[in-house]
Amino acid sequence: MKIAVIGCGNMGMAYTHSFVKQGVANKDSLLLIEKMAEKKNELERLDIAKVIGGISSEIANYHYIILAVKPQDFEVTAMEIRKFVNSDHVFISIMAGVTIQKIKKLLNTDNVVRAMPNTPAQINMGVTAYAHTEKISPTQLKDVEKILSSTGKVVYLPNENLLDAVTAISGSGPAYYFYFVKHMIEAGIKLGMTEEMASTLVKQTMLGSYHLIMNSPNTLDELIASVKSKGGTTEAALNHFEDSLVGKSIIDALEKAEQRAKELSK
Ligand SMILES: NC(=O)c1ccc[n+]([C@@H]2O[C@H](COP(=O)([O-])OP(=O)(O)OC[C@H]3O[C@@H](n4cnc5c(N)ncnc54)[C@H](OP(=O)(O)O)[C@@H]3O)[C@@H](O)[C@H]2O)c1
Repeated sequence: MKIAVIGCGNMGMAYTHSFVKQGVANKDSLLLIEKMAEKKNELERLDIAKVIGGISSEIANYHYIILAVKPQDFEVTAMEIRKFVNSDHVFISIMAGVTIQKIKKLLNTDNVVRAMPNTPAQINMGVTAYAHTEKISPTQLKDVEKILSSTGKVVYLPNENLLDAVTAISGSGPAYYFYFVKHMIEAGIKLGMTEEMASTLVKQTMLGSYHLIMNSPNTLDELIASVKSKGGTTEAALNHFEDSLVGKSIIDALEKAEQRAKELSK
């Protein structure tokens, strides 16, 4: 599979490393396009792909083109790509808020996949939801799934509309989790622990609880009930969450994120 990655920042490199690690592409089949000179030199030193500093006719030799530049750089980037687009190209965009319609129009192509990954992709533990245009063939779709699943799990969306919700839930999701972990550690320090001690307790609690969610036959409410006893410590904390409308606030916050994703797509 011949793959080109345009924009080798955090996400572009998460894909690149996954391709190499999983044998999806190698030095002969992977092209990295990075305009930042310092980063380009760094990529060359890695010696894992062909590296070029700007979009050129070279992309005609690559079938799947991953668009991993910032959304605000897309219009300029698209002008550069447009003259080299052929009907065999399949464009896989991971840019937040850039619609399939816009990509089709600016690149003059019908072959577009729009995907929303998240940063655990860097350690092959990401989740990516994607939608695509009708023109993508079943064979191409198989390749697309292989490309996207190299960084973790993949969720197919029957249409593009849900991508704003996906952005709010799993795209931004890692930041919500980091925020919760950060505040739990801060609480531990406030209660007299060293940072190291609080950090170990919180991180292992998160890890163990995640595995319970995945492995226990119980529902989330049952899992909560299994920690809580009447008049106990957990109940004191959970009652405070309820009184402070924390659950509602989480739902409201994610709705705000979805609205923002919708605004950015306009
Ligand atoms: N980070 C996340 O959690 C996340 C999650 C889901 C989706 N995404 C999406 O992933 C995309 C990339 O995000 P990121 O965090 O990886 O951004 P990033 O680190 O800024 O990477 C983008 C890279 O592309 C380069 N670039 C810009 N225009 C180019 C061009 N015409 N040709 C070649 N290279 C070009 C940039 O160089 P300069 O710095 O010199 O401009 C930069 O190195 C974004 O569209 C974002 O919406 C990110």
